[in-house]
Amino acid sequence: MDQVSFMEICLHQLKMSGVKEGEKLIVLTQGADRLDYADAFLAAGQQLGAQMYHMRLPSPPPVSGWNVGVTGLAALPEAVEALKQADMVIDCIFLLFSDEQMAIQASGTRVLTAVEPPELLARLLPTTELREKVEIGGEILAKAQTMRITSPHGTDVTYRLGVYPTITEYGCTDEPGRWDHWPATFVFTGAADDGVDGQIVLAPGDVLLPFNTYVREPVTYTIEKGFIQDIRGGLDAELIKSYMASFNDPRGMGMSHVGWGLDPRAHWHGLTDFPGGMGMELRSFYGNVMFSTGPNNELGGPNDTACHLDIPMRGCSLFLDDEPIVLDGDIAVPEMRSERP
Ligand SMILES: [Fe+2]
Repeated sequence: MDQVSFMEICLHQLKMSGVKEGEKLIVLTQGADRLDYADAFLAAGQQLGAQMYHMRLPSPPPVSGWNVGVTGLAALPEAVEALKQADMVIDCIFLLFSDEQMAIQASGTRVLTAVEPPELLARLLPTTELREKVEIGGEILAKAQTMRITSPHGTDVTYRLGVYPTITEYGCTDEPGRWDHWPATFVFTGAADDGVDGQIVLAPGDVLLPFNTYVREPVTYTIEKGFIQDIRGGLDAELIKSYMASFNDPRGMGMSHVGWGLDPRAHWHGLTDFPGGMGMELRSFYGNVMFSTGPNNELGGPNDTACHLDIPMRGCSLFLDDEPIVLDGDIAVPEMRSERP
């Protein structure tokens, strides 16, 4: 994407995030990554009269795989203090699940993550209409006491809710201390620590993140009291188990966030367009039901394991207190519906 177009979509983003004249914004990058993002955001913020600067950290040391929640900021408390002084931080590194991000948000600074390819950012710009649908979903989810997910492939699992908050993601953020990720159009919460029981069966075409692959043959999870007891199946099941075992952390078998996606513009086949991204398009596609394994500290829970998988599924049904919210991969609540793609 040319830099002028990139600046234009960043301008849209900052307007949707309520950036006003005189606000203090910091764009955070590391190494040689996403320097063009910093340029585009700085130019856009200047047009809005924001006071902006770019904080660039050194490249992280090479590690094998993705260590969720481990960032270069941990060794730089002065930098964290500076970020806490800002009205808004644009995170082009990926701070999510880190203590540093939580401290920045707790100080009242809003945080926007922007790490996906510019072409995807452009296609999935935040909109007021989708924000409203996500917020309606958030209100419905926040009131629910139980979530049940079923599928024709044998999924039947129940989450006991009401302990942890509901999180909305609509791809921009205009409230103090609030985090969001561009692009995003989904809602989620988590169960009580011992509150998930049943079976989840992944079907061909369901999505494994961060593997960024599609499931090819069924994978069956057995879950009791919030922890995975067993994962069975073929090659995909073996890959999942091998990956999880590499963290050497039994808390990776915990159950993490759960919810559904609402963006009719997001493609299920998105990994064929952007195979190396963060998978936000897959988390957002209309009517997906996403469950996740591993940490729940993002919601305020005690599990901060680095072993985290997000798994958007197609064709599921999701019920809150027995009321249908998603039916066979389509949104069942009129106020949340869009024209099905
Ligand atoms: Fe996740």
